[in-house]
Amino acid sequence: MFAESPAEAFRLRFGQETDGLPDLGRFLNHRSVRHYLDKDVPRETVAGLVAAAQSAATSSNLQLYSIVSVREPDLRQQINAASGDQRAIAECPWFFAFVVDLHRIRLAALEHGEPCAGLDLVEFLIMGAVDAALAAERMVCAAESLGLGICYIGGLRNNPDQINQLLQLPNGCFGVFGLCLGWPASDADHIKPRLPQASVWHEEAYDPAHGIGDYDERMAAFYAQEGLNANAAWSERSGKRCRPDRQSGREVWLDFLHRHGIAMR
Ligand SMILES: Cc1cc2nc3c(=O)[nH]c(=O)nc-3n(C[C@H](O)[C@H](O)[C@H](O)COP(=O)(O)O)c2cc1C
Repeated sequence: MFAESPAEAFRLRFGQETDGLPDLGRFLNHRSVRHYLDKDVPRETVAGLVAAAQSAATSSNLQLYSIVSVREPDLRQQINAASGDQRAIAECPWFFAFVVDLHRIRLAALEHGEPCAGLDLVEFLIMGAVDAALAAERMVCAAESLGLGICYIGGLRNNPDQINQLLQLPNGCFGVFGLCLGWPASDADHIKPRLPQASVWHEEAYDPAHGIGDYDERMAAFYAQEGLNANAAWSERSGKRCRPDRQSGREVWLDFLHRHGIAMR
């Protein structure tokens, strides 16, 4: 489905040609897919993808995450309603909630009389979120290598109490993002430009002068191509996305975490 060669994907991503690109296969042609064929993905395939996820590196081998797949339509509908009512959640064959899991390790260690008293440190929140993201992205790369499409769902954080309840998560667990998975319905989703490499890749030391280069211009062209309002620059849109009143309910997280004894110190 994603037909671009690595060189073509590079050009679409960065607006310029490149020489000497290694053969990166499908690694450069990711795009979020929000429309799926009405065609199942076999459970055995998903089991392989979960194995790929579990093969990711993980801090101190603690594996501070869990994955909850949700296929049951009524539960899926309730999760969707709590996550911003997004069509991809309703329509994808497989939906996964990626969960930061500080529960399992505590239970296992308690068997040895170890209470894991440090789990309330911010460090463990960071470790759990990083572990979940690394596992998810490895699953995504594996899925895309099979021609599957995905869309991450940060909307899973819109109503953390409700999501905890729906997924029956024990104390010490919370949904950090969702992931929709299925066969892409069309080639309507396109490679989205990224910041210039020079904006992101600093050599030897961070250079605050890097800025965003020509990114607003390239994103304006992308918005126009996609039929979106090209007048508002990426930097302006992104600035608005960072407003405190544009968080879709996610302002509650400090309170939520503290009620669950997470990130206390
Ligand atoms: C953690 C995370 C959460 C996201 N949440 C959503 C979401 O709730 N809904 C959605 O449609 N896309 C979501 N996305 C997709 C991003 O909007 C998308 O990755 C970004 O715009 C870049 O586009 P691309 O993935 O097509 O390259 C999310 C992506 C990430 C990594």
